[in-house]
Amino acid sequence: MNCAERLVAHFGTQADVARRLKLDRAVVSNWVKSGYVPARWAMEIEAVTEGAVSALEILNEANHRRPVRVKSRGEDENLFESVISRSDTMNPFLPAKRIQSFHPPQRTLMGPGPTEIHPRVLTTMSQPAIGYLDPVFVEMMEEMKSLLRYVYQTKNPLTFPVSGPGSVGMEYCFVNLVVPGDKVIVMRNGVFGGRMLENVERCGGVPVVIDHEWGTPCDPQRLEDTLKAHPDTKVVAFVHAETSTGCLSDAKTLVEVAHRYGALTIVDAVTSLGGVPVLVDEWNIDAIYSGSQKCLSCTPGLSPVSFSERVVDHVKGRKDKIQSWFMDMNLLLGYWGATNRTYHHTAPTNSLFALHEALVLIREETLEACWARHRRHHLALKAGLEAMGLKFLVKEGYQIPQMNAAMVPEGVNEAEVRKRLLNEFSLEIGAGLGPLAGKIWRFGTMGYSCRPDNVMLCLSALGSVLQDMGHDVHVGDAEAAAHHAYAQMHSVAAQQKKRAA
Ligand SMILES: Cc1ncc(COP(=O)(O)O)c(C=O)c1O
Repeated sequence: MNCAERLVAHFGTQADVARRLKLDRAVVSNWVKSGYVPARWAMEIEAVTEGAVSALEILNEANHRRPVRVKSRGEDENLFESVISRSDTMNPFLPAKRIQSFHPPQRTLMGPGPTEIHPRVLTTMSQPAIGYLDPVFVEMMEEMKSLLRYVYQTKNPLTFPVSGPGSVGMEYCFVNLVVPGDKVIVMRNGVFGGRMLENVERCGGVPVVIDHEWGTPCDPQRLEDTLKAHPDTKVVAFVHAETSTGCLSDAKTLVEVAHRYGALTIVDAVTSLGGVPVLVDEWNIDAIYSGSQKCLSCTPGLSPVSFSERVVDHVKGRKDKIQSWFMDMNLLLGYWGATNRTYHHTAPTNSLFALHEALVLIREETLEACWARHRRHHLALKAGLEAMGLKFLVKEGYQIPQMNAAMVPEGVNEAEVRKRLLNEFSLEIGAGLGPLAGKIWRFGTMGYSCRPDNVMLCLSALGSVLQDMGHDVHVGDAEAAAHHAYAQMHSVAAQQKKRAA
């Protein structure tokens, strides 16, 4: 008797087998007809028959009946009788190089993003695919929205991840809020403020730019002066944490000033979310976007956004057609809104599983502990970099803990240093952008990359490379300074704990 027949004999009838395994009877009948049980049922059948039909027997029989092919089909094995000869028509398009599966190297990522990804997030991302309207997925979407409300500290119902990188989140905010002809103030103190300006222009808005020296924060007084001069301003936009310089602006005050003059606000929190407080409700932010690949430490390609009720009403009340079909909030609501989900676009399901897990990790750590971790490792890294003689671009008090911009010392070939860090230590740090290219290095301590082992590796590797290239660096000083900083922070924390007990 083969395994399928033994299974039927064990339970009595095909119907009994189907009932025990919660399968359709046709499936069991098919096993009997084909004379074997497919391998994937091996473990379950061993369990339900309590070993009477063992997994090994099922696997051996199934493999004998239907061997698993592990090798690709040979060139000359023509499975389908093709009317066109493969060699004639396809080969001209074959890549010249023999291409095999891609296996990225293990890197330590301490640039401005993306970050390393927690193993739990990677595992979740590799789970079997399901449909984007599967009820299980829809349930996960609701959890995701509530987890995002937690990290954004908001009750905004319209809080969800847009499919696309941070740039798509940025564009989503501008296309929905800016009506052609609207006056929009853009506070620019780095690369990403410049991108906001591009968006205003492309949406047909009338931009008013407040330019700041790179590395300085957006100035609330200059915003107030500009609003006085342009009282018809509809929107004020700025970057909370400017990744290109490592400078943090006072989002709360900037929003307060904008509201005093009746303007809505768009805030870029791509680098700030998860690393420093971003209190959407307390600061009354109208529209905000972020990215999945920075302090949330997920795979790139998702942009969590949140709109206040005021913005939702504003967008719903627009009389014109929003210029982007994909990013039209009214249409996206059909998929991400509260009721009856309908197809809008094919959501990147496995990336969304990953984001859900990344947010669960933050929830488990708690947001406050997550901010404190970013601050702790920033202080240790900073102590080490300064001990090596490096100076920070941004003044104390405005430095973003998760994005450390340090000046490249005089006479150092900065690109060569980065190249050697990558080749010899598998460590990535970031270069300067725009006018800061060649002048700064950007050290990210974001999300899962924000760990003591990364900080120490970075300091050791940088010290070794600089010394090897003939620069005046004493290897070991930076590590000692970082250790000292950690020790001091631990001692303060221990004393606080003692006092609280
Ligand atoms: C502050 C800021 N805004 C926007 C973006 C754009 O995000 P993405 O590269 O995910 O499109 C970035 C990317 O680094 C950023 O740092």
